[in-house]
Amino acid sequence: SNNGYKLWLQYNFVEDSKLREEYKVGLNSIFFAGNSETVKVASKELMLGLSEMLGEENFKNNKWNSQLVCASEAFLNHELKKLLKSELEEINDEGFVLKTFMVHGKQKTVITGKTDIGTMYGVYHFLRLLQTHQSIKQLNVIESPKIKVRVLNHWDNLDRTVERGYAGFSIWDWHRLPDYIDQRYIDYARANASVGINGVVLNNVNANALILTPFYLEKVKALADVFRPYGIKVYLTARFSAPIEIGDLKTADPLDKNVIQWWNKKTEEIYKMIPDFGGYLVKANSEGQPGPQNYGRNHVDGANMLADALATFKGIVMWRAFVYSEHDVTDRAKQAYSEFVPYDGQFKKNVVVQVKNGAIDFQPREPFHPMFGAMPKTPLMMEFQITQEYLGQSTHTVFLPKLFEEVLHEDTYVNGKGSIVAKDVDGSLHGDKLTGIAGVSNIGNDINWTGNVMLQANWYGYGRLAWNPYLSSGEIADEWLRSTFSNDKKFVEPVKEMLLDSREAVVNYMTPLGLHHIMATGHHYGPGPWVSNLSRPEWNPVYYHKADENGVGFDRTKTGSNAVAQYAPEVAKMYGDIKTCPEEYLLWFHHVSWDYKLKDGNVLWDGIALKYQEGVEEVKSMKKTWQKMKPYVDDERFKEVNMFLDIQLKEAKWWRDSCLLYFQQYSKKELPVGVDKPE
Ligand code: GCU
Repeated sequence: SNNGYKLWLQYNFVEDSKLREEYKVGLNSIFFAGNSETVKVASKELMLGLSEMLGEENFKNNKWNSQLVCASEAFLNHELKKLLKSELEEINDEGFVLKTFMVHGKQKTVITGKTDIGTMYGVYHFLRLLQTHQSIKQLNVIESPKIKVRVLNHWDNLDRTVERGYAGFSIWDWHRLPDYIDQRYIDYARANASVGINGVVLNNVNANALILTPFYLEKVKALADVFRPYGIKVYLTARFSAPIEIGDLKTADPLDKNVIQWWNKKTEEIYKMIPDFGGYLVKANSEGQPGPQNYGRNHVDGANMLADALATFKGIVMWRAFVYSEHDVTDRAKQAYSEFVPYDGQFKKNVVVQVKNGAIDFQPREPFHPMFGAMPKTPLMMEFQITQEYLGQSTHTVFLPKLFEEVLHEDTYVNGKGSIVAKDVDGSLHGDKLTGIAGVSNIGNDINWTGNVMLQANWYGYGRLAWNPYLSSGEIADEWLRSTFSNDKKFVEPVKEMLLDSREAVVNYMTPLGLHHIMATGHHYGPGPWVSNLSRPEWNPVYYHKADENGVGFDRTKTGSNAVAQYAPEVAKMYGDIKTCPEEYLLWFHHVSWDYKLKDGNVLWDGIALKYQEGVEEVKSMKKTWQKMKPYVDDERFKEVNMFLDIQLKEAKWWRDSCLLYFQQYSKKELPVGVDKPE
C-alpha cells in the first residue's frame, strides 16, 4: 500500500532487468565534488533515488575517474572544465548540463552547473530520466529555467487554517517552530527543488501583520534555514497597515516619513535574520485589504516605498493587480487593467506586478488577462491558482497544466502575431530583467499533501511550467504518471488521456461556452447561478451570466462594457465579433439569444445543454478508464481516486441538472435529444 506521501519522488524499483543493468553499468562509481549544504542534499537525494531504483546500496567512489561525476563549475577538474566550456557558457546561474562522454572507451557522465544549486537541479533531472525509464547512454542536456522567480503562494493563516485550502491545515506548524523541524518541511523542499520551484510565500495574501513581529520572524528564519540548501527563498506577504498594527504609528501612508522609516527598519531586521530573504508580496486595496489608496496615494507610491526598503538587500516586491471594488460595478473584469496600465514605467526596478491568469478569478476557463502584453515597461508575473477554488476543490480530478498551457499560449498580439503570454512572463516580449510566476498552493497537512493524490500533478505541473513555460501538458502528464505510479504503457497511455481530457470535462459540466462565476457564493463549491441577493452586485452569479428571456451571457463588446477594447486591436476584433469569437468564450464576451445558431448547427440552448451532458459523459469515461487501472496501482491510491471520481460524477450531474433547470426558466425550451432528464 502507498499513502501518497512520497509524491512523485517514489523512486520505484526498475523491474525491467535489462534496463536496470544498463543503468548499473553506467553508474558503478559516483563522485560528488564540493561540500556545501546543497551538495550534501543533492548527493543524498541521488543515493536515495539510485539505491531504491536499482536495488544497489554500494556505489564506488573513484574520484574523477568515476563514471558519474557531479560538480559545479568551480569544482570541475581542468580536463572537464575544458570539455564543458561551451555548454557552461549557455546556461544561467540556476541551469545545468548533463553530458555523457566516452573516455578511454568507457561511458562517463557529468552533471554540472554554474552553481551548486544548478548542479542540484541537474541531479533531479537525472533522477527523473531514470524514474521515467529513459536511456542515459548519450546524454546531452543543457537547461536553464526561463523564469527567475518561481514561487508557491501559500494562503496560510497563522492559526493554520488555509484560505481556499482543501487538503487539511497549513503545513507550517507555527506553534512548534522554530525549534521543532518537521520532516515535512524537508520533504516539501525536496519536492519543490525537484521541479525547480525556488521561492515560497509563507502566508496568506489576506495577511496578518503579526508575521512581521520578532516572535514569528524567528520561526520564518527556521524555515528559511531548512529551505536554503534546496535553493528556495522565503518571502512574506506584507500587510500594508502593519506600521499601525504592530508599529504604533497612526498611519500607513507610504509617503509619511515615519512609515518609510518603519519599513526600512523592519526590512533591515528581517535581512539580519534571513540574509537571502526574497521580499514582499502585497495585496493592497482589494477586497477590503488596506493599501495606499486609503491615504489618497496610489499603487506606485505603495509599491515603490517597499521596493526602496528592499533594494539595498536585493529583495523584490510582488505587487498584486487583483483589485476590484464596489464602486465600479459595470464590469469587474475591467478594473485591474484600468487601474494599473496607466502606471506603466513608474514602478521601481525591483517591483513586479502579479497578475492572475484571467480578469475575473481563476475560473475553469477565462480568456487571458488583458494586462498581459499591455505594460511593456513593467515586468508582469503570472499568478495561477493550483488550489481548485472554483474547480471542484480537492475532490474533482482536474489536470491543471492543460489550463496553464492554454493561457501561456494565448496570443496578445501586442508586438504582432506570436506575442504569446508566455513571452511576457519569461521577459522575452519586452526584455524584462526581473521575471516571475506564482502558483497558489494546494498543499495542506493531509498525508498525501493535496487531499486527492491526482492533484499532486498540479503542484508538479506548475513547477515544471515555471521552469519552462513552453513544456506541453502531455509531456508533463507523462513524466508525472511515470514518476508517481508506473511506467507501464498500459497504465501511462490511458491515464494520460484521462488527465488531459479532465480540464475540458470540468469546463463542460460547470461553465460551458464562456459562462463563468456561477458557483455557489462564498465557498464556491457546486452550482449557484440563481444567487442574486448578495450586497455587492459583482458577488452575485446573475451579474455574470445575465440570463433573461432574450438570451444569456455578458456583453463585453462595444454595445456592452467594451472590455474587449483592453486587448490589442487584433484580439479585440476577434473577441468582439460574435462570428470570430471562439465559442469557448462566447458567453464571456457576448449576450447571445437562445436561438443563436452555433457552428455545429445547434441553437445556443441545445448547445449549452449538450455541453453539460458532454461533461458528465467525460467524467463517466474517466471513471471507466480508472477502473481498468487496478492492476497497475496500489490498493490505497486506487481506491481513493475511485471514490473521488464517484463524487465527481455525482456532482457533474448536479451541475448539469441544476444549471439546466435554472436556465430553462429563461430559454423556455425543451432539453434536446441526448441530454439526460434531471435525476
Ligand atoms: C479570491 C478568493 C479569495 C482570495 C482572493 C485573492 O477572491 O476567493 O479567498 O483572497 O481571490 O486572490 O486575493
